Amino acid sequence: MKKIIIAIDGHSSCGKSTMAKDLAREIGYIYVDTGAMYRSVTLYAMRNGLFNEDGSIKLDELEASIKDINIGFQLNQETSKPDTYLNDENVEQAIRTMEVSAHVSPIAAVPFVRTALVAQQQKMGEAKGIVMDGRDIGTVVFPNAELKVFVTASAEVRARRRYDELCAKGMEANFADILKNVEERDYIDSHRETSPLRQADDAIVLDNSNVTIAEQKEWLLNQYLRVVAE
Ligand code: DC
Repeated sequence: MKKIIIAIDGHSSCGKSTMAKDLAREIGYIYVDTGAMYRSVTLYAMRNGLFNEDGSIKLDELEASIKDINIGFQLNQETSKPDTYLNDENVEQAIRTMEVSAHVSPIAAVPFVRTALVAQQQKMGEAKGIVMDGRDIGTVVFPNAELKVFVTASAEVRARRRYDELCAKGMEANFADILKNVEERDYIDSHRETSPLRQADDAIVLDNSNVTIAEQKEWLLNQYLRVVAE
């Protein structure tokens, strides 16, 4: 069967990763969570004092360090899902904290950060057979992807999902703070100058506010089967 590139874009916490991961596992494709890559750069910047007190970024220092930031993914045998590695350290948990979420949007808006990560992402997709999720996959990273999906859901539904996810992991969570963070990130992600979040003209839209994970999984598999049969 022909191998394709599947680009899944959309708002934060709308279940993109879950559906992308499940599909990749089911059809034997590589899965890449590009949000995890921006989060890893953010974690690196936080740990290395690259944020000023007012939350702005020490751009010159970050630019000088960007070549020292190596991000990769390795399959976790226990969860059967890929874990994110920053310079050979497993940071899968560390990049999901509220603190990283609160700092990631300005990092993702820095043009040289995007240039570096987009180049890595394009390399990962050279051999196709990949499901990649993010904000600019169908528009910038793989404008020629054979299947593009744009996922969305209401901010309240997305905040509730992230809240439940954090609670399930035993992490601290406050619903009002999470909703505020989701809304702020939507705004910054859609209004930044470089690669703002927008739907590709040829993307299929999925609003999953009232769709179960199982229904969404089946819908995506059918989209894939339709494209490979073409
Ligand atoms: O999907 P996520 O919430 O883990 O993404 C974290 C942040 O990274 C989010 O604020 C948007 C940004 N991002 C991006 O700008 N481009 C991508 N391809 C993926 C994520």
